Amino acid sequence: MNKRPFSTPPETVILAELSAAEPDFVSGTALARKLGISRVAVWQYMEKLREQGFTFEAVRARGYRVLTRPEGLSATLIQSYRRDRAAGFPLQLMTEVDSTNDEAARQLAAGQEAPFAIIAQRQTKGRGRFGRPWHSESNGNLYASFAFRPRLEPARMQMFTLWMGASICDLIASFCRTTPGLKWPNDLLFDGRKAGGMLTEARMDADQIRDLVFGLGLNVSLPPGGWPADLAERAVSLEEHTRQPIDLNKLTAALIGRVRQSYERFVDGSYKETFADLWNCYDVLRNRPVAVLTHTQRVAGIAMGIDDEGSFLVRTEAGRTERFRAGEVTLEKPPR
Ligand code: BTN
Repeated sequence: MNKRPFSTPPETVILAELSAAEPDFVSGTALARKLGISRVAVWQYMEKLREQGFTFEAVRARGYRVLTRPEGLSATLIQSYRRDRAAGFPLQLMTEVDSTNDEAARQLAAGQEAPFAIIAQRQTKGRGRFGRPWHSESNGNLYASFAFRPRLEPARMQMFTLWMGASICDLIASFCRTTPGLKWPNDLLFDGRKAGGMLTEARMDADQIRDLVFGLGLNVSLPPGGWPADLAERAVSLEEHTRQPIDLNKLTAALIGRVRQSYERFVDGSYKETFADLWNCYDVLRNRPVAVLTHTQRVAGIAMGIDDEGSFLVRTEAGRTERFRAGEVTLEKPPR
């Protein structure tokens, strides 16, 4: 597949320039020079932004500045906030889809050039591990999938989700100034409640991953009517936990940048330099009494972290260390 050089759409560049200069104005001439286009063309791109819900203040001899931004997710706004936007990573924002993971897989199967991201305001069949439904109403939370064609051995899949989880925890920690927890293999937690989940799915050729979709559901806000009854005890959002409003577009921009960079570090192997430290920093299970449920057994013991392949380690009462490549972990009450 040919790789086209990526170029940022002019309206994204205009928005980025205006945001960077705030509260100052940016002249039409400066924008035209930056983009190598005429001032009339600048004005036409600003009309496009107005159609998307942005409003601007235009003052003679000073230029433009942003007055208001559209409410909710905006693909142009997200891309304009990305510090690494020159690196590409097209983003499609959908009002509604069955599952962003399924949509990404369909587009990959249809030959869409990767990487790319799909974000939906609402999913009708959002799902998590073991095919469980993922609550996906249009409520200010994030439902995102990132599509890649990595050409890696299938055995590396397990580590991919763990690395992405550690990396995303690290981003959330610096973006929200709070420390999330990681529960092997794919849960992001605050105080034992679930704030996010990851679902990595891949299609395989005989000895290689053909394409890979990394799905992320992140609870950013408390839904307007509160959590549904079955989630009320178990779910928490970043805003509830931090008691701070979170700009979903800025957070999404930072996430795309982090996912892109972490993917590259996974493929070139440099992730190994930091993975263990990051995982240990966010692992909430280590040294705690747990039970692992697999298709065939339930094993209780003390969590001992993970091994080099990302398998979960449990020291049983009998003193054996058991390794799990898959399974569901629950925290047990410590013996009195
Ligand atoms: C889990 O905790 O079991 C994983 C949840 C993953 C949910 C996300 S939301 C975006 C993407 N699309 C889906 O259908 N699932 C993932």
